[in-house]
Amino acid sequence: MKDLYKLAKEALPNSYSKYSNFKVAAVLRMKDGSTISGVNVENASFGLTNCAERSALYAAYSKGYKKDDIVEILITTEQDEFVSPCGACRQVLRELVNEDVNIHITNNKGDSKTVKNIDLLPFAFTEKNL
Ligand code: THU
Repeated sequence: MKDLYKLAKEALPNSYSKYSNFKVAAVLRMKDGSTISGVNVENASFGLTNCAERSALYAAYSKGYKKDDIVEILITTEQDEFVSPCGACRQVLRELVNEDVNIHITNNKGDSKTVKNIDLLPFAFTEKNL
């Protein structure tokens, strides 16, 4: 997990967060050993902002990776406290990441809390409801 934290710290300066100044980075560990980082990308039309988690996941899928390829995810910010994924990201995580995947939420010191993807969004709306 240390290596994922280092990669997340390295990605943080790439955050395009000129409106909130709130930098977020997420790193996915893939089954093949590779890692994919994402940062939040904001927009003057605020609603178009893409969170770090979704940036990383969409980058992975854009490269051809699928659900079973993602084995672990780490998220970090510059904050002292633990910042957990927003509701929109929880919905996307549920769809694109397996339920038992560990999500490590870290603060600026590298302390971490780990939760299972399934526990981030109870009673979720999924493709099974369609
Ligand atoms: N943000 C993320 O990147 N991930 C989250 O799960 C929470 C929020 C970003 C969106 C926005 O650019 C900034 O943090 C402040 O909300």
